[in-house]
Amino acid sequence: MPAVPLIRRTCSCVLILALAAFSSLAQAQKSTSSYEPQSGQAGKDVVWVPTPQVVVDKMLDMAKVTKDDFVMDLGSGDGRTVITAAKRGARALGVEYNPDMVALSKRNAEKEGVTAKATFIKADLFETDFSKASVITMFLLPAINLKLRPKILNLKPGTRIVSNSFTMDDWQAEETATLGPETGCTSFCIAYFWIVPARVGGTYKVPQGELNLKQLFQMLSGTLTTEGKTFALEGKVRGEEITFTAGGREYRGRMNGKRLELR
Ligand SMILES: C[S@@+](CC[C@H](N)C(=O)[O-])C[C@H]1O[C@@H](n2cnc3c(N)ncnc32)[C@H](O)[C@@H]1O
Repeated sequence: MPAVPLIRRTCSCVLILALAAFSSLAQAQKSTSSYEPQSGQAGKDVVWVPTPQVVVDKMLDMAKVTKDDFVMDLGSGDGRTVITAAKRGARALGVEYNPDMVALSKRNAEKEGVTAKATFIKADLFETDFSKASVITMFLLPAINLKLRPKILNLKPGTRIVSNSFTMDDWQAEETATLGPETGCTSFCIAYFWIVPARVGGTYKVPQGELNLKQLFQMLSGTLTTEGKTFALEGKVRGEEITFTAGGREYRGRMNGKRLELR
């Protein structure tokens, strides 16, 4: 076989292959960038339904998100909560199992000009370390909230948690907000807010006497023995801050590591 036609044939084959590769790449890019999620579409443990934007705003208001926060959205969908937090100046990370949703979130963050603050990872929320977050947002399911609850209660005291529509079973929310139809919200319009409480249950010698605290999440009961009398107490722990009333007096304190400072 003559050498020149062989070279020519080889060249055309390489060209055809390159063109085919380029066209399938272009096709893939086109189909990814035109990906349109459908509300209710399947997800690993929860379907995707977006949180209405007014509820996103309310959730971040309840958590008082500022530029000093690191917000993590567990199951971040199209990225709206992360992007909104980033627009408030916070660093925010979305954890999402569906890679198409992760790619969509990244494009959305780019459109909104917040890629420096808003990042997304393709990961399973059950296998993700969220201990560095100062605020956690979620719109999952009651059973998932309950499954995550022990991990959440082990976070740094003071970490703020906000959930769209679903509670934490018998861990009462610190605050609940219901958005009415006048806000434009028609479904999934309730936001719940919690603060991870320090572990304060136990008996302490304090300048006032002896304090015995029983703790159920953020709720405190127990007794204060002071000046030879024992009073029942009722109170709350908010992050590391403690308040309670006993014998008609209000007390404030702070859990400093394992030490309780009572004022
Ligand atoms: C109800 S949507 C909420 C989306 C977003 N947080 C919002 O409020 O608009 C739940 C999201 O969690 C994602 N998801 C489900 N199971 C997951 C898992 N195990 N790990 C990470 N993401 C998950 C779904 O793909 C879906 O996007």
